Amino acid sequence: MADRLYVFDTTLRDGEQVPGCQLNTVEKIQVAQALEELGVDVIEAGFPVSSPGDFRSVVEISKAVTWPAICALTRSVQKDIDAAAEALQYAKRKRIHTGIGTSDYHIKYKFNSNREEIIERAVAATKYARNLVDDVEFYCEDAGRTENEYLARVVEAVIAAGATVVNIPDTTGYCLPQEYGAKIKYLMEHVQNIDKAILSTHCHNDLGMATANTMAGVLNGARQVEVTINGVGERAGNTALEEVAMILRCHKGIGIDTQINSRKIISMSRLVSNLMNMPVQANKAIVGRNAFAHSSGIHQDGVLKNIQTYEIINPKDVGIEDNSIVLTARSGRAALKHRMHALGVELDEEQLNVVYQRFLDLADKKKEVKDDDLLALAGVDTSANHHIQLDYLQVTSGKGPRPVACISLLVGGERFEATASGNGPVDAAIKALKNIIHREMTLQEFTIQAINKGSDDMGKVHMQVMYDGNIYYGFGANTDIVVASVEAYIDAINKFVDKK
Ligand code: KIV
Ligand code: ZN
Repeated sequence: MADRLYVFDTTLRDGEQVPGCQLNTVEKIQVAQALEELGVDVIEAGFPVSSPGDFRSVVEISKAVTWPAICALTRSVQKDIDAAAEALQYAKRKRIHTGIGTSDYHIKYKFNSNREEIIERAVAATKYARNLVDDVEFYCEDAGRTENEYLARVVEAVIAAGATVVNIPDTTGYCLPQEYGAKIKYLMEHVQNIDKAILSTHCHNDLGMATANTMAGVLNGARQVEVTINGVGERAGNTALEEVAMILRCHKGIGIDTQINSRKIISMSRLVSNLMNMPVQANKAIVGRNAFAHSSGIHQDGVLKNIQTYEIINPKDVGIEDNSIVLTARSGRAALKHRMHALGVELDEEQLNVVYQRFLDLADKKKEVKDDDLLALAGVDTSANHHIQLDYLQVTSGKGPRPVACISLLVGGERFEATASGNGPVDAAIKALKNIIHREMTLQEFTIQAINKGSDDMGKVHMQVMYDGNIYYGFGANTDIVVASVEAYIDAINKFVDKK
């Protein structure tokens, strides 16, 4: 029988630290319940002392989830640990994740301390947490750049103090796989009481090595992996859950496996991508749009002769159905709701009505509405009564004179019209919009993605608009990419004007 590897998901803590990707409590509960269905062992639900919102999310996730342990992050500080224990009070299985920086960079510059004092603080925090809960994980922040001998002393001390899991983060994503693997091996061989705890990997992707490092850790004795869905996380992100799970499925010879239900991977990926407004890159391993698309003639020929010539994973094993239902203008609300549910999107009646109307508009323009179209429609803000609404937009563009846009907006129900020219059709449309909405706002990020392949396809637009020192996210989806862009811009503006 394969050795068991525990999956610790930190999408809702480390993953959620990405600027512009914050989730509200309801969305976090949705993600946590989907993670439970996916089969993760531990859900890191937040850092309770950091904000009332994080505290509340840990409380609500603890109530909403049954099987996985719920974990709360702390520093090696009593008030953090007290807050974590309180936030976890409703969890059926609870874990406190406390820790401190152990590299000389952290000891000297962050704590202005010394190695002995750091061990004392680590031991004190672990003991304090163990008085409140039975399951305590200790992280040695920046372990990737911590000298192995000293790291082994810290690990031994916290295990003696009661830590059940010890996390070895490569916080800066610096390690090479053989270096990180050797670090875990060193700890397995030099920490006297290592059999009393589980070693955990926690790798960041700054140099694109997070998954390789995680696997090196597992091959050398780590039995817990800290991961996020789609590899989301600050900077270049964390190790992607789906990659580790599928590596172990593909390489059965390793003899280690997780309890991940791989058929839920795609819907989980889409749920997180939609809620966090974080598009998944098309060539992302396992969950990217092109991950299973063979386009070169040689590959297609091989795949048609025998699928195994070029395919190491059966797409069905990660939840991609070839015969996914194609919805048309004749499909009803129930079919739409059913398909959305299969894609990981839950719609209440009001949202369903709005998405259904948009679906019918699209189905009139396109013969077949596919899964990705539906997800784009679902990503559009469906709440009615926004302060600013697009009434109409007309743009002339092409080779020749500068593009010109005429726009009409409803602002608080009142109609305003404006015209402007620009470097391109989107530029003209946004300048026209700014002739009506006079605010100091700048576009920070702008991505347009075709959803499928045809020229009748929808375009998805993600935008980040800076206003008053804050970033606001906007999303639009339309068969006309200029309209989608303006809708995304208006979506972002509504987030600050609606508040006032
Ligand atoms: O990357 C890191 O070191 C962390 C710890 C706080 C666990 O996220
Ligand atoms: Zn981290």
